[in-house]
Amino acid sequence: MDPQQAAARAETLRREIERHNHAYYVLDAPTIPDAEYDSLFRELQALEAAHPALRGTDSPTQRVGGKPLPEFAAVRHAVPMLSIRTETDTEPSGARAFDARVRRELDLGDADDPVDYAAELKFDGLAISLRYENGVLVQGATRGDGETGEDVTQNIRTVRRIPLRLLGAAPPLLEVRGEVFMSRPDFERYNAKQRALGRATLVNPRNGAAGSIRQLDPAMAAERPLSFYAYGLGDTRGWDLPATHSGVLDALAGFGLPVCERRAVVTGADGLIGFHARMRELRDSLPFDIDGVVYKVNSLALQRRLGFVTREPRWAVAHKYPAEEALTTVEAIEVQVGRTGAITPVARLAPVFVGGVTVANATLHNEAEARRKDVRIGDTVVVRRAGDVIPEVVAVVMERRPKKGLLGDETLHPAFVLPKNCPVCGCAIERPEDEAIARCTGGLVCPAQRKQALLHFAGRRAMDIEGLGDRLVEQLVDNAIVKTPADLYKLGLLAMANLERMAEKSAGNLLAAIEKSKATTLARFIFALGIRNVGEATAKDLARFFGNLDALMAADTDRLQQVPDVGPVVAASIVRFFAEPHNVEVIEQLRAAGVHWSEGEPAAAASSPIAGKTFVLTGTLPTLTRDEARDMIEAMGGKVAGSVSKKTDYVVAGVEAGSKLDKAQDLGVSILDETQFRELILS
Ligand code: IVH
Repeated sequence: MDPQQAAARAETLRREIERHNHAYYVLDAPTIPDAEYDSLFRELQALEAAHPALRGTDSPTQRVGGKPLPEFAAVRHAVPMLSIRTETDTEPSGARAFDARVRRELDLGDADDPVDYAAELKFDGLAISLRYENGVLVQGATRGDGETGEDVTQNIRTVRRIPLRLLGAAPPLLEVRGEVFMSRPDFERYNAKQRALGRATLVNPRNGAAGSIRQLDPAMAAERPLSFYAYGLGDTRGWDLPATHSGVLDALAGFGLPVCERRAVVTGADGLIGFHARMRELRDSLPFDIDGVVYKVNSLALQRRLGFVTREPRWAVAHKYPAEEALTTVEAIEVQVGRTGAITPVARLAPVFVGGVTVANATLHNEAEARRKDVRIGDTVVVRRAGDVIPEVVAVVMERRPKKGLLGDETLHPAFVLPKNCPVCGCAIERPEDEAIARCTGGLVCPAQRKQALLHFAGRRAMDIEGLGDRLVEQLVDNAIVKTPADLYKLGLLAMANLERMAEKSAGNLLAAIEKSKATTLARFIFALGIRNVGEATAKDLARFFGNLDALMAADTDRLQQVPDVGPVVAASIVRFFAEPHNVEVIEQLRAAGVHWSEGEPAAAASSPIAGKTFVLTGTLPTLTRDEARDMIEAMGGKVAGSVSKKTDYVVAGVEAGSKLDKAQDLGVSILDETQFRELILS
C-alpha cells in the first residue's frame, strides 16, 4: 500500500471505529459484534505501525499512550468555569424561591407568563472542560479555581465515552463543560477486583472519579472506569448558538457527546417541583450517584439578561436532595438476630442526620464484610442511607482512627469477631461453610425467632393449627403467653380471654384446633420443627427412612446422607438442630403434652422392598388410577418422580405410555406392568 492509500484507509477506519465507539459508549447500542470491531481496530493499529506519521492524537488507538507526568500543567480557562448557587432547602419551597428570584430579576409580574427552565440531574463527580478544535479533542482540564485548572488531557482521553473526534460538522472551536463520574456498577466491579487482588478500594464513586482524573500516570487512570455527561459550554467560535440551553444540549448530543437523557424543559415553579420529585423517585435506581437536580433558565437571551453575581450565574441553581452519606463515630458493635436466625453485625453510632432521617444503627451485613471494612469501636465511618434501604457502614475513615491504646502498641479496640453464642437466647451461632450468613441454632427457643417459628409450626402443611395466624401469634408472643411451640399445648381459655379482640367462641375454636393437631404424622412433625434446609419433601423422606423420631435424632451426618436427596448441607443442618439442647427440650415437652404420631408410619419403611426406590408412572393402568398407584408406592416408602432419569428405579407403564417409556428403554430402567408392580410390592 502506498502512503496515500494507507492514509485514506486509516482515515476510513478511524471514522468507522469512532462511529462504533459512539454507538457503544454513548448510545449504549452496539452496532457490530466485538470481534468485527477488534479486527477493524487491529487493522488500524497495523497501518499506524507501518506508517507512524498516520498516528495522530485523535486516533482511537491513542487513548492510553501517554507517559506519567511529574505534575499537571496549568490551563487558563478562556471562559471561566463558574459554580452554581446551591439551594439547600431540599423541599419544594427551594424551587419556588429560585423561580421567584428569577422573575424578580427579570421584572416579571404575576400577569406575565411563567419562565421555561431546562431541568437536569446534578451529577456527583468532577467538573471538566473539553476543548475541541476543528472537531478534534485537544485538551481536557479540571476546574481548579474557576480561572485556572489543570491539564488532564491524558487521563481524559482514557474515558471511552468522551469522543476524541466529534461527529458531523463541528465548529472550529467548541469547549464543552461536563462532569466526569464513576457509575455505580463500575465502582462495584472495580472494588471487587481490588479486593480480590488485596488492594485498596475506593470509598465512593465520586472519590473514584476525582482520584482517577488526578492520576499522574495515565495507565493508572485507564484502569479506573469513568463516564462523562456534557451539561454546558465554554468558549466557542464559528458556531451559531441555538436559542435555548436545551437546544445546546441537543446539538452536543448531535456531535456525538454523551448528554444525559434524564432532562426536561419544564414551565414555572410547579414544573421544577415536579421534576425534583420525579428524579428523587428515580434517584436510587439510576446507575450513578446524583446529589440533586440543576435548574437553568432555558432561553440563552434571558440568561444573558440575568447575568452573574460574583462567580455564580443568576439563571441557574442546584436544588439538592438530602445527603445519603454522612460521617459519624462507632460507639459499639453488636449483633442482631433476624426472624430466621440470621446473625447480622450492627454498628451503634453517634446519631447522625442522613438521607432525611436520624440514623443511630447501621448494618455491617455479615462477618466477612465487617472484617473487610475493619470497623472498630471509636472509628469515624461513612454511613449511607439511600432511599428506604437499611443504613449501612460504607467505610472507615482510617486517617481518623484513634491512635494507639493507652497500654501498648495495640489500637484502642480489637477487630470485630462474631460471638460464639446468640445474644438473644444463648444458643450456639454457626456459620455453614460456603455461606456468608451465620445463624443462631436455637430455632425453637430463640425469642428473636419465636414468631416465625410458631407460624411455621402451626402452618397448614405442618401441624395444621387452624386459626393460629399472624395477628394471634404476634399477641401471644408479645404478651409472653407463648414462648415455644410446646407452650401452645398448655394454653387455657383464661390466658386467651386476656387477648385483645378474642371472642370466647374463637378462643374455643382455637383450643379445639390445637387439641386436634396433637394427632399428626411423623413427617408433618419433622417439617413443623423448622429445621433449616428441611422442607416438606425432605421431612417426608426422613420420616420414611427412619420410621421414628428417636432414630432421626440419633443419626449422624453419614447416616443422614443415606436418605435419598439428603446431602452434606441438609445433613449438617439436621445434626446442628438436634445438637442444641434447648431444641431437644422443646421436643420432649411437645411429646409430654401429648403430641403423637403412629411410629413407624407409613409402612415400616426400612423393611419395605421398595423403600427409597424411585418410580415413574406412565400411561393408563388396567385397574389402578395414577393417584392410587402413587399412594401405594408412597405408603411403602417409595417415591414417585415426574420424569425418567438415571436415578429412576422402575417405570410402571400402562396403555399409551409415551416418551417416558422410550426413555426408560434407552436408559435400561426396569419397566413393569401393573401385575408385575403388584408382585413387586407384595414380595
Ligand atoms: S452547570 C454555570 N449542570 O455542580 C453553570 N453543573 O457548582 C455551571 N454539576 O462542580 C455548572 N451536574 O460540575 C451544571 N447538570 C449540571 C451539573 C453540574 C453537576 C456540578 C458541576 C459543578 C457543580 C456546580
